[in-house]
Amino acid sequence: ETGVITLDRGFKNTGSCSSSITFLDGEKGILRYRGYSIESLAEGADFLEVAYLLIFGELPSKEQLHKFHTDIKGESHVDEDVKKILDGFPKSAHPMGVLSSLTSALIAFNPSSVNVNSEEDMYKAIVKIMGKFPVLVSWALRKNQGTPLNYGDNSLGYVENILKMMFKKPNEEYVQNQVVIDALDKLLILHADHEQNCSTSTVRLVGSSHAGLFASLSAGICALWGPLHGGANQAVIEMLEAIKADGGDTKKYMAKAKDKEDPFRLMGFGHRVYKNFDPRAKIIKVAAEEVLNDLGIDDPILDIAKGLAEEALSDPYFVDRKLYPNVDFYSGIIYRALGIPTEMFTVMFALGRLPGWIAQWKEMRELKEPIGRPRQIYTGENDRPFKTIENR
Ligand code: SDX
Repeated sequence: ETGVITLDRGFKNTGSCSSSITFLDGEKGILRYRGYSIESLAEGADFLEVAYLLIFGELPSKEQLHKFHTDIKGESHVDEDVKKILDGFPKSAHPMGVLSSLTSALIAFNPSSVNVNSEEDMYKAIVKIMGKFPVLVSWALRKNQGTPLNYGDNSLGYVENILKMMFKKPNEEYVQNQVVIDALDKLLILHADHEQNCSTSTVRLVGSSHAGLFASLSAGICALWGPLHGGANQAVIEMLEAIKADGGDTKKYMAKAKDKEDPFRLMGFGHRVYKNFDPRAKIIKVAAEEVLNDLGIDDPILDIAKGLAEEALSDPYFVDRKLYPNVDFYSGIIYRALGIPTEMFTVMFALGRLPGWIAQWKEMRELKEPIGRPRQIYTGENDRPFKTIENR
């Protein structure tokens, strides 16, 4: 309403934009990208197809997908000088901080990607970041592990190339199995977009000032880092490992989560929109069981996770508050099985969310959305006379 300011903390009841990209129904647990159900895409498409769908609005033909991938491959080199920035980080740097910094650093090496004033500029900036981001993700991992950086292999598929850059050991033949490739591909699809969540709203808000795409993405990575958002996938595994170290005492952690004096929350539970179940968590739970089975891994953390979920789903405190496992609850179990270190989990979330962020940023610019500038309810001091320092 003009004139009257309505306070809506956390924007729980505020629509920030119109969008035709992703549809959520929190009551029915429905998630669709451009009208296609997440279940059908997770089963039938690969991540690059879904990225194309989110960004351009339609599932690509064979020719369109081939051209998109070819254009992306043509942009998959990262300037050698970016390594000097990477070298400046201590090994202990959190990979999300490395990823956000290197994404922002790319601006200096790709100045043309800042002002996207035509469809052609927009397309060029998109394939640039789709080509370079996986390299930055792999470099963040290699930095974290203290292993030499790998270069991409353009003969491979998009996701397999990412795995090769992340895991190829020096002087060793690179071997990856299809179970791992398919599992990561599915996980990335399930993370690809989620309408106006915290990090996507950040990407839109930063982009609404006409800051460039890479700058907006760098801001989105920082928003995703928080443990209440994408950082939850790392916090879930840390919580499950703590429970395991405590002899599997889930009751103690359930009590902590319900204790208002204790800031501890059951990580991987609850969602602002989903009030019955998170359709992604359902798919990831099944995928986790399949991947561990296919890879012959017996991870006690999965059993603890399932036990905790069962307990919470029958606990009045959680049921009354409609708290269910969300996308972050089981995803870390798969990342562990793929050999990805815990502090890299949120980087993997960012890798999956990249096409969603791009699609939302592109839509915001194409619809010429105004600069985001909310108002406030002022609760500070009224007008008062200045006091010189002698009188304070
Ligand atoms: C993601 O928005 C998106 O779409 C995000 C995401 C995406 O794809 O982009 O889906 C990805 O971020 C998933 C969420 C990952 N975060 C976590 O798992 C962290 C733990 N979850 C919570 O912090 C919380 O549930 C949120 C942040 C997810 C949602 O917070 P809300 O909607 O602001 O709800 P709230 O904090 O107001 O909680 C409502 C009540 C409160 O109790 P009361 O004050 O009413 O008594 O539920 C309680 C909360 O204390 N509560 C929890 C809880 N989550 C909410 N209590 C214990 N454990 C929890 N996890």
